[in-house]
Amino acid sequence: SLSKNVSYNVALIVPDITNPFFARIVREITTFLNTKGYGTLLVDSDNSYKNEKSALQNLISRGVDGVLLVPSNEIFSENQTEVTKLLQNLAKPLVLLNAYTTRKVSYVNFDNVKGAEMATQELINYGHRQIAFIRGENNFVNALERYEGYENVLKKNQITLNQNLVFRGDYSMESGYRLAPDILKNRQITAIVSSNDLMLFGVIKWAKEHQIPIFKRLSMIGFDNTPYTEILEVPLTTIDQDTEKMATDASELLLKMIQTKQKIVKKIIIDPILIRRQSVWKR
Ligand code: RIB
Repeated sequence: SLSKNVSYNVALIVPDITNPFFARIVREITTFLNTKGYGTLLVDSDNSYKNEKSALQNLISRGVDGVLLVPSNEIFSENQTEVTKLLQNLAKPLVLLNAYTTRKVSYVNFDNVKGAEMATQELINYGHRQIAFIRGENNFVNALERYEGYENVLKKNQITLNQNLVFRGDYSMESGYRLAPDILKNRQITAIVSSNDLMLFGVIKWAKEHQIPIFKRLSMIGFDNTPYTEILEVPLTTIDQDTEKMATDASELLLKMIQTKQKIVKKIIIDPILIRRQSVWKR
């Protein structure tokens, strides 16, 4: 009730609602909180720190009981002292999702290094050695970690890291589309690990438009187990990140903080799963 300053509403901020990965998280959090008697106020920050910051301030002044924040990439390249102040001094309990932090803030994240290691090793097991890697932006720890996983496995298999095989996108489909010509003109490449499915979809789109039979030519593994990957001409092998677990763990943790009025700093890491479909061929 208002007198006790409790609204039974929780704020949820995501960076890109058009990415099905985040859409799924939204659905799972909303459903879960509903069963616990809490409503969800949703904001799409459009990957902007400015939007994130004003959403946080707005929602808190409107009386949400706590905040679930899936941070933008941008937050990690802003003035970090300011970000620390913002996150650590929030008037309400906060849990981050899909991000790491060394700050005194709780988070739930996936083991990104392990996910990329699994994908890269799978391709090597199928005889590939010239494996392209499509990475996300540098400032984003998850992106760095996926790249680190790729590097680790190459090293373990005595394959020299070739920077010409590393392509930099920003997790959007457009960025994959933009990188496609460069990836496809390099005839050495026989396989691709992409830091998410969307960027791979961009590559596939470009190849289709240019009548390049990409599925016959390249083995591919993505990240996210995005819905509809199964109905592609060749169903995509992908690293599944258990979004349901992420949503539930983060919501439970937040409710615990809200209900016990305690600040809890807990770090939860979820194991990725390799979903084998048909996009990996023997070389
Ligand atoms: O930031 C976008 C990416 O991070 C998503 O596609 C998903 O892989 C998440 O972990």
